[in-house]
Amino acid sequence: MNIDELCQTATAMVQKGKGILAADESTGTIKKRFDSIGAESTPDSRRDWREMLFRSGPAMSQSISGVILFDETLRQSAVDGTPLVELIRNTGAIPGIKVDMGAQDMANFAGEKITAGLDGLRHRMKEYYDLGARFAKWRAVIEIDAERPSMACVAANCHALARYAAICQEASIVPIVEPEVLMDGGHDLDRCYEVTEGTLKHLYMELFTQGVMLEGTVLKPNMIISGKKCNTRAGVEEVAEATVKCLKSSVPASVPGVAFLSGGQSDLEATAHLSAMNAGGALPWNLTFSYGRALQAAPLAAWCGKSENHDATQAAFNHRAKMNGLATLGKWNEGMEG
Ligand code: 13P
Repeated sequence: MNIDELCQTATAMVQKGKGILAADESTGTIKKRFDSIGAESTPDSRRDWREMLFRSGPAMSQSISGVILFDETLRQSAVDGTPLVELIRNTGAIPGIKVDMGAQDMANFAGEKITAGLDGLRHRMKEYYDLGARFAKWRAVIEIDAERPSMACVAANCHALARYAAICQEASIVPIVEPEVLMDGGHDLDRCYEVTEGTLKHLYMELFTQGVMLEGTVLKPNMIISGKKCNTRAGVEEVAEATVKCLKSSVPASVPGVAFLSGGQSDLEATAHLSAMNAGGALPWNLTFSYGRALQAAPLAAWCGKSENHDATQAAFNHRAKMNGLATLGKWNEGMEG
């Protein structure tokens, strides 16, 4: 384990003004995204889509600190033969890799999920480092309803996240630890707060137990937000205040940064919430983004799978990346959306 390298990578990932592009959709998930715009999903079309994003100059050099890749993409090359990893590195961004094997049904706890992928991970990690990945991601899924989550689900997922994080650091790869409390359902903001706080406290206990060095990690949580079907959805200021309060009560100050997932928020909501949090005054950690959908929805709609839409696609991505970059400084406002 190279402690200096881990700390440097983690700090660069969450630097002010920039954030992370989550482009690590599994083959099944990217197919769903492509289906929504009528594009075919093949190894080449996935490569073309991602190459277009990674070649978006202003976004990549000014607003993106790192890119999370799926295994397939880490091994692919651009049309001109340049490895995509090199393309990303040349923009100044850091390549990363999703290493979990997805959320699977839990025994004894119907409807709940446990993330798979620990078996053989230590072996895979070495190869990922050699291929150029300097950070990794593992996502746990926690669902809210009247009876859920169970303590068993929270405990098993936090334990797996901590073991994954320890294996990453051993290989000098920064672990993004992502315990996602889903925004599906009709729960209110207070219930999201309660479940997220409990999950984060459990997570940091497990990370401590497994000997994980927090200075070389990045947390990727959900925001504290009302469920999608809640009748009384909280506004921007309320979400920002509750999220900062929850993080302050559960995330140690030695963590260099928190990079939120967008989790089904609209593009503008995700940007507005992040900006409001950063406008609220000094915090122990940098707060930034690690968005998938909230960065890719607009360029995907502009692209529609057609090469003639190349420039419009890149323009849409450059814009969203810039807006979110400003949000990391608390300097975004709706008037900038033009
Ligand atoms: P969303 O921003 O679309 O939630 O994706 C982020 C991510 O990487 C989920 O694991």
